[in-house]
Amino acid sequence: MNEEVIYYPKEAVGRAVEQFETPFFLYSEERLRENCRRMKSAFEKHFPDVWPLFAVKANPNPDFLRIIMDEGFDFDCSSPSECFLAEKLEAKGMYTGNYTPADELKYAAERNMILNLDDASMLPFLEEIGVPEILSFRINPGIGGGERESFVFAGPDAKYGVPFEKAAEAYKKAAELGVKRFGIHMMTGTNIPISEKEYFAQITKKLFEIVAEVKREAGVKIELMNIGGGFGVPYKPEEKSLDIEELAASVRESFDTQCEKHGLKEPRLMIEPGRFISADAGWRVGKVLVIKDSYKKFVGIDASSNDMPRPSIYGAYHHASVMNDASEQEPVSIVGQICENNDQFARDRMLPVCDIGDVVVIHNCGGHARAMGHNYNGRLRHAEYLLEQNGSIRQIRQAQNIEDLFKTTKL
Ligand SMILES: Cc1ncc(COP(=O)(O)O)c(C=O)c1O
Repeated sequence: MNEEVIYYPKEAVGRAVEQFETPFFLYSEERLRENCRRMKSAFEKHFPDVWPLFAVKANPNPDFLRIIMDEGFDFDCSSPSECFLAEKLEAKGMYTGNYTPADELKYAAERNMILNLDDASMLPFLEEIGVPEILSFRINPGIGGGERESFVFAGPDAKYGVPFEKAAEAYKKAAELGVKRFGIHMMTGTNIPISEKEYFAQITKKLFEIVAEVKREAGVKIELMNIGGGFGVPYKPEEKSLDIEELAASVRESFDTQCEKHGLKEPRLMIEPGRFISADAGWRVGKVLVIKDSYKKFVGIDASSNDMPRPSIYGAYHHASVMNDASEQEPVSIVGQICENNDQFARDRMLPVCDIGDVVVIHNCGGHARAMGHNYNGRLRHAEYLLEQNGSIRQIRQAQNIEDLFKTTKL
């Protein structure tokens, strides 16, 4: 049993449900800091000047982000709103958009972001907005991985990145435009299975081959190498955690071998994890509203998949705990209130026999969880609370109300 998956701060959740209305998200400052430290120190051991970014899309809560910044991370941003947030929090970092128009690039550049272009077709936009001193390209290295098909971000079916065969040409054009310094980036998949131990070393090797070709063909030297995020986390109790020390050591080995092989000056390493830092630092807490004995037993809770859509979009597994004293277990499906049959958080799971009002905790909801939410069926977004290191619990985002939902609509 992986303790990291089945753990939740029971006492704090108990206190929170007494004080605040459910449903809500609860984040643990302690766990968030631990995750940041674990990742940063594993890489710093082998890359003393590593530049870690946090993928803001995983959890854009400002207080959550402030903690990550305090642990020495900058930001990976992917939209103007995330750049706006970075500016408010006085963070810098990299902007990786997709199919990005000139005005978005301008917005990001004005907010201290290194532009990371998804394709050479966006280079003319730089002439419109002003050519930056430093520029990066996201490369599609032709190989990718990921927990499931939609999590694979590279290869011929992926919409992302400069095809690796066209990389040298892209850098050459950028140099001709007047760019002086260069970076290279890849993000080849998310939740890369932890069993694929050599994955990061292998894709780093591929990236170095591209760096060598860019130097040879375009005469461009690359000084920043961003190997992206995608570091897998366990969602099921029987899954193992990623050995991040081992992974960092294998990337080090790849750097040494490839720099020597291609006669390259070592670039500065950048990483941009989201899930690894955030996923197991948050829980979604709700209460049982209705119990229905149908063809099988359904337990309806006061939270729906609009605010944590991973199970409905991907069929993703999230561990669930019920807080009660029941001595017996039974197979149940925990469901929300949305008119979609995929609004189910746990299907046919053995869980303690529930009663109305029991508290249900959904695990691994700190990253790519609330952040992916929406308002389908007019369902509202939940509040967020932070369990601080001193044990106090503080609201860090209010729940939406019905008026909020119609703020932009003429009634
Ligand atoms: C460009 C980019 N960087 C980083 C990440 C973070 O990925 P993960 O949360 O899997 O580490 C993502 C996730 O989609 C991404 O698109």
